[in-house]
Amino acid sequence: NAIHLKDYIAPSFLVNHVDLEFILEPKKTIVTSWLKLTRNPDVGGPLVLDGDELRLLSIKVDGKLLETSKYAQDNSSLTVDGLPDTCVLEIKTEIDPALNTQLEGLYLSGGNFCTQCEAEGFRRITFYPDRPDVMATYTVTMHADLKSHPVLLSNGNLIDQGVGKNGKHWARWHDPFPKPCYLFALVAGDLACYEDSYHSGSGQDVALKIFVEHGNEDKCAYAMDALKRSMRWDEERFGLEYDLSIFNIVAVSDFNMGAMENKSLNIFNSKCVLASSDTATDLEFERIEAIVAHEYFHNWTGNRVTCRDWFQLSLKEGLTVYRDQEFTSDMRSAPVKRIQDVRTLRARQFPEDAGPLSHPIRPETYIEINNFYTATIYEKGAEVIRMMQEILGRDGFRKGVDLYFERHDNQAVTCEDFVVAMEDANDVDLKHFRLWYSQAGTPEVDTTWSYDEVNKSFTLNLTQYTPVAHGQEGKRPLHIPMTVGLVGRDGKDLPLILEGEEGKQGETSKTLRFDQEQQSFTFISVDQCPVPSINRNFSSPIKLSTTYSDDDLRFLMENDSDAFSRWDASQNYATRLVLRMVKTIQEGTELEYDSNYAQALARNIADETLDPAFLAQMLSLPSIDYVAEQMQVADFAAVDQARTFLKAGIARELYEQFLELYMCGKENTAYSPDAVSAGKRAIRNVALGFLGTLKNDPKGLDLIVGQYEVSDNMTDRMAALTLLASMEGEVGEKALKSFEQRYSHDTLVMDKWFAVQAISKIPDTLGQVKNLLTHPAFSYKNPNKVRALIGSFTGANPAKFHADNGEGYRFLADSIIHLNGINPQVASRLLSPLGGWRRMDGNHQKMMKAELQRILDTENLSKDVFEVASKSLAR
Ligand code: ARG
Ligand code: ZN
Repeated sequence: NAIHLKDYIAPSFLVNHVDLEFILEPKKTIVTSWLKLTRNPDVGGPLVLDGDELRLLSIKVDGKLLETSKYAQDNSSLTVDGLPDTCVLEIKTEIDPALNTQLEGLYLSGGNFCTQCEAEGFRRITFYPDRPDVMATYTVTMHADLKSHPVLLSNGNLIDQGVGKNGKHWARWHDPFPKPCYLFALVAGDLACYEDSYHSGSGQDVALKIFVEHGNEDKCAYAMDALKRSMRWDEERFGLEYDLSIFNIVAVSDFNMGAMENKSLNIFNSKCVLASSDTATDLEFERIEAIVAHEYFHNWTGNRVTCRDWFQLSLKEGLTVYRDQEFTSDMRSAPVKRIQDVRTLRARQFPEDAGPLSHPIRPETYIEINNFYTATIYEKGAEVIRMMQEILGRDGFRKGVDLYFERHDNQAVTCEDFVVAMEDANDVDLKHFRLWYSQAGTPEVDTTWSYDEVNKSFTLNLTQYTPVAHGQEGKRPLHIPMTVGLVGRDGKDLPLILEGEEGKQGETSKTLRFDQEQQSFTFISVDQCPVPSINRNFSSPIKLSTTYSDDDLRFLMENDSDAFSRWDASQNYATRLVLRMVKTIQEGTELEYDSNYAQALARNIADETLDPAFLAQMLSLPSIDYVAEQMQVADFAAVDQARTFLKAGIARELYEQFLELYMCGKENTAYSPDAVSAGKRAIRNVALGFLGTLKNDPKGLDLIVGQYEVSDNMTDRMAALTLLASMEGEVGEKALKSFEQRYSHDTLVMDKWFAVQAISKIPDTLGQVKNLLTHPAFSYKNPNKVRALIGSFTGANPAKFHADNGEGYRFLADSIIHLNGINPQVASRLLSPLGGWRRMDGNHQKMMKAELQRILDTENLSKDVFEVASKSLAR
C-alpha cells in the first residue's frame, strides 16, 4: 500500500466550485456537498472520491437520486461511473466529530468545532477528490446552536448570516480563491475575539482577528503584533501583499501540530498563540512570532501557489520555513537565528537523514503522508532554498521568486517548477544542483589545506562523500556552495583572490562552487599562513571534518569575523573535549580537566562588543545527543557524565565571571519580550546554569532559589525551576509543588511543569513520569500533554531513556501502543528514538528491537505507526 511519485496521474474530474452545508452537532453532523464537476479532457476513467469513516446518506446527480448500482463504495473511496462531462454531484454524509480523537477532519476541542484537513483530513468530512491538484472555489453554510456556538467561521468572506428556529443560527462564507481541500477550514464555537487591523502598502484595510477561549484575550497581543510585522515584511522583502480584507486566527487546545495555514482562517495550537510575561518564556515568544509568520507566509507560498501532489510538500514547506527564518533574522539577531537553526538541523535532521527514515526532500514513496512532515522536508528543504539564494545572490533569488509567482499563481505545481523559475529568471543552469531534491543523506566534507611560504599561496582541498543511507545506493557528488574565509594572525580576514582570477579585487568571504568528489582551490597573494574559516554562516547543510588543531579552534573562537563559524569552532572544541573524556571514562581512567577551553570562553566573556544573545550561544555546550551522534557506538551515560564534568570544571574556573555576568545583567525595568532583553536574560540564565552545576556551593543554590521565588517572568522562573527540578530532595520538590499550585488553572503552563519533570536528572525520573500519567491535568487525548510528558522523557532525556535495564524503551512502546488507538499521528511521531538502535551497543540494540517488534505485533496498527515501526526495524 505504498504510494509512488512515478505513478502520478492527473485527476479524471476537476471541481470548479464546492457548495458545502453543515448541520453541526457534536455526535451527529450532517454534511451536504454540491460539487460542480467537469471532466478533465486529458484523463479517462470514473470519478473516484476519497472517504474515511463517513456514513453515506445519499447521492444525487443534477438533482436526481443516483441508484445504488451506479456507484461503488469501499472503506476508503466512492466510485461513480457514467457521469456526464459536466454535472453537479450532491452527496449527503453523516459524521461524528465527538468521537474523532485523531484530530484530523472535523473534531471538537474544548466543546468547539474545528478542522484539520492537511494532508488528507477532508476525506473524513465528506467524499471528495482529496488531492491538492484539484482546486475549487468554496461556499460554506454552517448551522449551529446559537448559545453554545455563537461564532461561525470559514474561509474567505462572510456573505450572509441569520437566526433560525429552535435556538439555531447560521452563517455563509465564500472564498473567491480556488484552493485544494486541504486548505478548507471551519470553526464553530464560543470564543472571545481579539481585534486589530492592518493597512497594506497599496492602501487596503484588513481586519485581523484572533479567536481564543474566553479568559485568554489578554494573551493575544504578541501574536497580533507578530502578524502585522509579518504582513509588512512580506510586502517589503518579497513584494507580496495580502489578498482579502479579513484574516482570522483561531487558537485551539487540541492540535496535532503547531498550526495550519487554511486560507484566511489559520488554526493554531494555542501553545503557538497565547503568551504573557507570566506564562511564556522568551523562546516561546520567539516561536510564536515565527509560527505566526510561517502560516501567514503560506498565503503565497502554499495557498496561491500550491503543491501538485504530496511528494512536492517541500515546495511549500521548505520555501516557507526559509521565509520565516529570514523574517526572524530581520526582526532579531541574524547570527543567533542562524545558530539556532543549525542547532535544530543537527539535532533533528541529521539523525533522521542517517537513520532508517532517511528520505530526500522530495520523497519518492510513502505509506502515510503524515509521516513526512519531517525535519528533512521542512528544515533541510529550507537549507536547499537558502543555497539557491547563496548561489544566485539575494537579487537573483528574488527575480526567481517573482517569476515563480508570475507563472504559477493559482496553480498546483512541483519543486521542479520552482527550480526552473530560478534558472529562467537568472539565465543559469541548476541541473547539477537539483540532485539535492532527489538524493538523501548528509554529505560529509573532509578538508585539508596547505600554505606555500615561497609562492604565498594557500590551497584548500575538499572531498565530499554522502554515506549510503537506507535505500539509496550510489550517491553522487552534490553542487555545494562553500563559503570560506582566511583569517590572518592578527585576527583579520585576508583578501581572497582565487588562482585564475588574478587582478580581481579580493573579497574577504567567498562562495566556492564545490561540485566534484575532490576539488582543490588555491588562493594567491596570501602573505601569511592563515587559519581557514570553512562553511561560513553554514552555507551548506553538510558535516564538516577538518584538521584543525586545538589552537586553531581557540583562535577561531576568538577571532572569526563570521559569527556562525566562531560559534561552531566553540561547539567543535567542546565536542572534542567531551569525546576525549568519554574515552577516558570507558577506559576506566581518571578524568582530567583541560582549562584551555574555559580560557577561550573567558576571552569571549571579556569582549564587551559581543551581543549577549550571541555570547549565550557561545557558552552553551553541545547537547548530549549531538556529542553521542559523533560516536560509532553511542554511549549516552558516558557522554552525560563527561559533559557534566566539563561543565562543572568550567563553572569552577570561571566562577567569578559567571557571578559577575549574573549580577551585572540584572535589570530593573519591567519585562519585555524583545530580542535584546531576551538576550540579556539568556546570558544570565546560562551563567546561572553553570553555577548550578557546582554541588556544595550554597551561593549558587541561593541564587537559583531566589530567582525562582522573585522573578517577574516565566523565562527566569522556568530557568530556575529547570535547575531545581534536577536536584534531589526538598528544594526541588518544594519548587515543583509551588509551581503546580500557582499554575494549575493554566493548561499550557502545566505542560511546562510536566516537561521539566520529564527531563530531570533525579535518579528515578521514569518513576516520576509514570506517576504523572495519573495527574488530573494529564490526558492522552491532548497532544501537547503527551509531548510534554512522554515526548520530553523519551526524546529529550537521552541518558535516562537509554537506561541499561530497558525500562525507558518499554515505557515508550507501551505509550505508543496505547496512543495508536487514540491518535495515530501523535503515536507515530513519538517513535523516532527507538529507530536509533543501530547506533547502540548489542545489549541496547536487542531491547530496542524487541520493543519495535512488540509495537508491530499490535492489533489494529495504524498506517502511521506501521510505516515508521516497520522501516525502523527492517532497513
Ligand atoms: N502545513 C502546516 C504547517 O507547516 C502543517 C500541517 C501538518 N499537519 C499534519 N497533520 N501533517 O504549518
Ligand atoms: Zn508550513
